[in-house]
Amino acid sequence: MKKQNTQDALSTVPAEAQASATEDLDSAWNGVVGRRTFLKGVGMTGAAALIPAALITTGSMAARKAALTDGDVAILQFLAAAELIETDLWQQYNELGGVDGGNASYQAALSNLDGDMPQYIADNTDDEMSHAAFLNAYLKSMGAEQVNLDAFRTLPSSKATGAQQIGRLTNLQKLNVDTSWYTRYRSTQNPDFGATFPQAVTIKNEPAIPLNDTETPPGTSQPVPPDSTAASRMQAIANTAGFHFAYIEQGGASLYTSLSLKVSSLEVLRIVVSIGGVEVDHFGLWHDKCGNAVAQPLAGVTDPETGLTFPDLNAPPFGGEQFQTNLILPEPASFIRKNLPPVSVIRPSLTENAGAVATIESFTADLLFEGQTPQFFTTVMALARAADAAERQAH
Ligand SMILES: [Fe+2]
Ligand SMILES: [Fe+2]
Repeated sequence: MKKQNTQDALSTVPAEAQASATEDLDSAWNGVVGRRTFLKGVGMTGAAALIPAALITTGSMAARKAALTDGDVAILQFLAAAELIETDLWQQYNELGGVDGGNASYQAALSNLDGDMPQYIADNTDDEMSHAAFLNAYLKSMGAEQVNLDAFRTLPSSKATGAQQIGRLTNLQKLNVDTSWYTRYRSTQNPDFGATFPQAVTIKNEPAIPLNDTETPPGTSQPVPPDSTAASRMQAIANTAGFHFAYIEQGGASLYTSLSLKVSSLEVLRIVVSIGGVEVDHFGLWHDKCGNAVAQPLAGVTDPETGLTFPDLNAPPFGGEQFQTNLILPEPASFIRKNLPPVSVIRPSLTENAGAVATIESFTADLLFEGQTPQFFTTVMALARAADAAERQAH
């Protein structure tokens, strides 16, 4: 029966090639996850899609590469979608505030958090582009379907100097930025045990990029503290961006950790943990930089449009373990079982708190997809559910 499944999967290639490909596939999978597990995971219809004819006749290395479980494909496809989303938002930041960005006032306001912010924004953007391109190229190399979200690039661009006028996947113009990650990583409690955490700054309906040149003229100087209405508005926007950068990347850190636990192929696991490590790197960087928006000398900026204030988190009623801005490394927290000693880890990592569906739900609550079509949500949630449903089949 198992043999029959594989033969069916190869029914479109010549008989000799079928025989040798079946052998190669068998030996490859005996060495990675075991043949029985592979057949159970891929199934009769799945295998056909996963074995490209071009790879079948080129020997055992190609055959080994041609074998992915449905679960691994779903994980890679969701991550490709997530990286396309990340790329889209980072490109918007980069056009305006990156080192080659076109909005001098936004760049100056971001630089008040750290002089290297424009360079880091450009580099983070490059990283996301490489993540999306690699994941799709890998899917293609394995004979699996790539992910393309171009049909959903329908959201408007900022009208501020520097922004290209093209359709976007994401909306950075009115965000509810969840900043509870800030107190979560300073706490000894773990959200995977049900703990909840207060916001560091309550950011509601706030842009993270300048909207136009009327309220934030691109030539406005950005002294610390801001000395005009336009400068205060732009600084609040840049501060919001700082917190949003860290919010996005801590989500990526948890997402990759969560999905790594469902991967079957060692090669796919290598991809997931290696890209995931860079998401953690991004998070750590932005966690450090956004703290400067809520520390002296920059703390105290108020947005004249929305009333949002960035307080000094090092001074009463803030400060201490929960708010001190330079406590950026993860506090040891409860993990796995509460009777084990606290340990410094990425958290959350359980599917319900950190998985693909949880990530899309969080981005939706962030208003990152505000204005998107129902078809967008249907498409992305289907990819997310499939990824979360993947089960590790290695043993
Ligand atoms: Fe990424
Ligand atoms: Fe990222």
